[in-house]
Amino acid sequence: MVKMKLVKCVQLVLAIVFIGFIVHGSNAAFSPVDNYLIACGSSQNVTFQGRTFVPDSKKSSFLLKSWGDAIVSSSNSSVPSPIYQSLRVFSTPASYKFGIKRKGRHWVRLHFYPLPDPGHNLKSASITVVAEAFVLLNNFTFKNYNGSYLFKEYAINVNSNCLIIKFIPSNNSVTFVNGIEVISIPDELLPDQAQALSSPPLFKRLSDLALETVYRLNMGGPLLTPQNDSLGRTWENDGKYLHINSSAVNASVNPETVKYHVPVTPETAPNWVYATLESMGDPNVVNWNFNMTWVFPVDPKFMYFVRMHFCDIVSRAPNSLVFNVYINSDMAYPSLDLYAIIGGLGIPFYRDFVSNSSTESGILTVSVGPDTMADNSNAIMNGLEIMKISNDARSFDGLSSIHGLLPKYHSHSSKSKVGIIIGLAVGILAAVLVGLCSCCIFAPRSKATQNHLWLPFALNGNSQTMTKVSTTSQKSGTASCISLDSSNHGRLFMFQEIMDATNEFDENLLLGVGGFGRVYKGTLEDGTIVAVKRGNPRSEQGLAEFRTEIEMLSKLRHRHLVSLIGYCDERSEMILVYEYMANGPLRSHLYGTDLPSLSWKQRLEIFIGAAKGLHYLHTGAAQSIIHRDVKTTNILLDENFEAKVADFGLSKAGPSSLDQTHVSTAVKGSFGYLDPEYFRRQQLTEKSDVYSFGVVLMEVLCGRPALNPVLPREQVNIADWAMSWQKKGMLDQIMDPTLVGKLNPVSLRKFGETAEKCLAEHGVDRPTMGDVLWNLEYALQLEETSSALAETEDNSTNHIPAIPFTPPEAFDHSVNMTNGVNLGTDDAVDNTTSTVFSQLVNPRGR
Ligand SMILES: *[C@@H]1O[C@H](CO)[C@@H](O)[C@H](O)[C@H]1NC(C)=O
Ligand SMILES: *[C@@H]1O[C@H](CO)[C@@H](O)[C@H](O)[C@H]1NC(C)=O
Ligand SMILES: *[C@@H]1O[C@H](CO)[C@@H](O)[C@H](O)[C@H]1NC(C)=O
Ligand SMILES: *[C@@H]1O[C@H](CO)[C@@H](O)[C@H](O)[C@H]1NC(C)=O
Ligand SMILES: *[C@@H]1O[C@H](CO)[C@@H](O)[C@H](O)[C@H]1NC(C)=O
Ligand SMILES: *[C@@H]1O[C@H](CO)[C@@H](O)[C@H](O)[C@H]1NC(C)=O
Ligand SMILES: *[C@@H]1O[C@H](CO)[C@@H](O)[C@H](O)[C@H]1NC(C)=O
Ligand SMILES: *[C@@H]1O[C@H](CO)[C@@H](O)[C@H](O)[C@H]1NC(C)=O
Ligand SMILES: *[C@@H]1O[C@H](CO)[C@@H](O)[C@H](O)[C@H]1NC(C)=O
Ligand SMILES: *[C@@H]1O[C@H](CO)[C@@H](O)[C@H](O)[C@H]1NC(C)=O
Repeated sequence: MVKMKLVKCVQLVLAIVFIGFIVHGSNAAFSPVDNYLIACGSSQNVTFQGRTFVPDSKKSSFLLKSWGDAIVSSSNSSVPSPIYQSLRVFSTPASYKFGIKRKGRHWVRLHFYPLPDPGHNLKSASITVVAEAFVLLNNFTFKNYNGSYLFKEYAINVNSNCLIIKFIPSNNSVTFVNGIEVISIPDELLPDQAQALSSPPLFKRLSDLALETVYRLNMGGPLLTPQNDSLGRTWENDGKYLHINSSAVNASVNPETVKYHVPVTPETAPNWVYATLESMGDPNVVNWNFNMTWVFPVDPKFMYFVRMHFCDIVSRAPNSLVFNVYINSDMAYPSLDLYAIIGGLGIPFYRDFVSNSSTESGILTVSVGPDTMADNSNAIMNGLEIMKISNDARSFDGLSSIHGLLPKYHSHSSKSKVGIIIGLAVGILAAVLVGLCSCCIFAPRSKATQNHLWLPFALNGNSQTMTKVSTTSQKSGTASCISLDSSNHGRLFMFQEIMDATNEFDENLLLGVGGFGRVYKGTLEDGTIVAVKRGNPRSEQGLAEFRTEIEMLSKLRHRHLVSLIGYCDERSEMILVYEYMANGPLRSHLYGTDLPSLSWKQRLEIFIGAAKGLHYLHTGAAQSIIHRDVKTTNILLDENFEAKVADFGLSKAGPSSLDQTHVSTAVKGSFGYLDPEYFRRQQLTEKSDVYSFGVVLMEVLCGRPALNPVLPREQVNIADWAMSWQKKGMLDQIMDPTLVGKLNPVSLRKFGETAEKCLAEHGVDRPTMGDVLWNLEYALQLEETSSALAETEDNSTNHIPAIPFTPPEAFDHSVNMTNGVNLGTDDAVDNTTSTVFSQLVNPRGR
């Protein structure tokens, strides 16, 4: 019975998949997922080139702020086309924000026409436009421009859930825009790499760059408008770019006869492009130099993506057309034999290249000429597209990047897809891990924090005033945003801004789920990528942790602490906005994912980064701060694998005076990382963090969870298990198999001693974070020196190289080294620590 049902079910699924496939396959017309056509400043729909542009009214979802003024032309006759009849003028930077349902390349098309405006001279207005961290236009003005209107088309890869197009006026002036289009492009249309006419021969990672269409030609054919192209492109006739008019003659066939073969589809280019061409004016002239050349003025400071379209509609017999293709005077494609490549006539074909302009004068030429080896000397071209590639400043105009144009702009640049995938993987992992072993709170919660009403709080000491203000505003039912000194506490976000940044908490952007709530990837209006942590309103512990996190993080700024960008407490929300860490938690790089294994050197560098962060916490601020929740999920890695300590929700100010040695507190933290002494005595010191850090060290060395209940009893707790091996001096027996043979035993020994001291039973026996840092730096130096030596000495792994040791100077606070580890000598193992605590086996302590 069950089997039958299963079979039926499988059949059904297959049928659905199959139907889906057929439908997909036969679905000829491309319909873009994202398709915005906006007539700025208009009060009614505008039909232009067969498409309907809708007004950017206040009701629409895409305009963010700064409405500016709408200006509508009073007479139709003087305006080149309907889309230019209205525009919107801005005197302050203004953004249009478009929700993106499908990530990937999008057309961004902009229409400008300076209508007469009594208030401003729009002809001299400066137009600067930025989008997705790219500068599209920079200080453009119609004053020095020959045309009456300006049309721009860009292909921009959007990797987040929204695209913001920002219009920036220059000082004391205005800027304007008439029409905007944002439309999805099929993924297959634009490649990630293309042949370069220089070394290296392949131009890679095109997807990270933006493109601007500068020329798009239908050789020998009529003008094609967006009505004739399923992707809304315009193709113009090539006549005016031909170097020598008489060198070419056009030919055409019925467009219906064009036979598309995958990968070329009608989206690559409409059949009208392939059905017409230019061929050699006098094909049988026997002149080796004879060719057909198109000349294009370009900006010499940029590189260009060049796509050539071919379709042999003139040959009568196979292999009769063989020709050379040149860009500038370089051979781009020698002896191109279309029939040999595609095996038929009348079948479209295209080739992509990346090239510079030929000279400093800024001329790019494309030529086709007969191959001298061919019997029949002819050459053809059907279509040509030339697109400018954004430069190193991510600009299409000059060297000022978006940073220069927007003074407070922090771009983390567009993250690669890898980052997103990692983020998602991390998110899922974090969700699972949190579900398995979440923060545990032993002590009864303080009733004071069990307030279901979200009351605003004070951070500056003048709490009464602020509380009063916000209480009133909450009663009146409006947003209860407290005003904080923004320079000290990060930015206060409106809830709407957070909604926009995260596409209304789109689950596709979920990075992780924790005890506190959910973490989303977001994009701020200025393009900054952030991590948005949204507290669960029903989480009772949340409120206290939320406050702690803001209080702690707003006091702290350090390269190895995750920085808080701002927060939002509107509408009972508890939202924290952090810098985005592209490589996610350290743990996700250790086990349970497919991420590449970290090398020993990388691991040491990560330890050192995290240790610097903790050392700063303990010593850098006026009052020392104890993190209380040091673990591998709270050490995050940025795009360069630099470690930063995160999650200060449980942090606690340390002993405030010298005679006070600890803080009495309820035990909080995570299983597997808890300091046994703290657990027993409920007395918190910085050394509790040192213990947890010791667990992290072992976890990272061994590449296994701190607690793994599935393992045999003696192996469950990594602190116990690794210590027993460390005492035998055989840590290498249990380390991550991917490290075996790839690290220096001397470095490992130094590391093992350090970890062992961190895991000492009694806090007083543990080193300070400063000492730990110093030792880890030493272990790294041993690793680096030995790998350098290994290149000259083959048996170097079996003896300690006599290297001159220079103490590392990487941390800025002076460190007390007297009570710490004694460097360079083999300290006897402290045997009093034999009864190492195991939380799982022995969960007492209340
Ligand atoms: C404007 O166009 C949109 C989309 O095509 C359509 O939904 C709407 O009804 C039109 N409005 C008017 C007033 O024609
Ligand atoms: C401009 O032309 C459109 C139709 O093309 C018409 O609806 C509109 O009323 C005209 N506007 C003026 C000011 O003549
Ligand atoms: C913009 O261009 C104008 C001239 O067209 C120039 O005077 C002005 O300095 C430029 N502004 C910037 C910020 O480059
Ligand atoms: C504008 O057009 C005129 C004549 O058509 C030409 O001489 C001049 O160079 C052009 N200027 C620019 C900036 O293109
Ligand atoms: C822009 O305006 C501000 C104040 O209006 C002024 O301080 C600044 O110097 C101006 N910058 C330029 C480049 O004109
Ligand atoms: C080539 O094609 C263009 C556009 O279709 C047309 O205007 C022109 O007359 C043609 N020229 C020749 C020589 O056929
Ligand atoms: C392009 O579309 C317009 C409107 O549908 C049509 O009038 C024109 O003939 C088309 N051009 C070609 C070359 O098909
Ligand atoms: C080249 O031919 C086009 C038409 O195909 C014509 O408009 C143009 O004036 C010609 N140019 C020259 C230099 O003969
Ligand atoms: C194309 O022909 C022109 C002269 O018509 C010549 O100067 C040029 O070098 C030729 N280009 C190539 C790539 O052969
Ligand atoms: C273009 O020129 C730049 C600078 O000379 C060079 O680095 C780059 O490789 C060139 N690119 C191509 C595609 O030729």
